Amino acid sequence: MEILTKKSLFDDLMVRLDEILSSSMPAEEKLHFVVNMLRNDVAYYDWVGFYLVDKNVPDELELGVYAGEETDHTRIKFGQGICGQAASTLKNFVVQDVSKEHNYLSCSIKVKSEIVLPIFHAGKLIGELDIDSHTLSPFSDDDVQFLEGVCQRVAPLLA
Ligand code: SME
Repeated sequence: MEILTKKSLFDDLMVRLDEILSSSMPAEEKLHFVVNMLRNDVAYYDWVGFYLVDKNVPDELELGVYAGEETDHTRIKFGQGICGQAASTLKNFVVQDVSKEHNYLSCSIKVKSEIVLPIFHAGKLIGELDIDSHTLSPFSDDDVQFLEGVCQRVAPLLA
């Protein structure tokens, strides 16, 4: 059996993502499919969720659709934790070892690394994609490129 490289796995997932997004399901259902697909099919994606900029409190994020264990961090102020810092800087934040990050909000002792990507729509920050992993240093440029593509595609559903 051919061993799937990361790149070919991501190519395959992108095709499936486009199928989900072009289906006639309601937006929220599509988002559930997306987070579950990412969590189930990428071995080291252990928690996958969207945080959305609160339209009434513009410097706070609120938890949206997610797959994985429940988290206490349902609201995060800009600047707080990995998510809040990504929101303040408007940049991807890749943390290969969360034990080395001081401004970090722990969801579970099992989490070893995290990646957060801001999501933009019409030039404005509207939310983030947040992924926790139980593996140390799992993220490469392939993950960043793939997840940026995911963010671009789902942005209209979150706006
Ligand atoms: N660890 C995040 C908090 C959110 S959870 O990962 C779901 C942070 O430091 O912002």
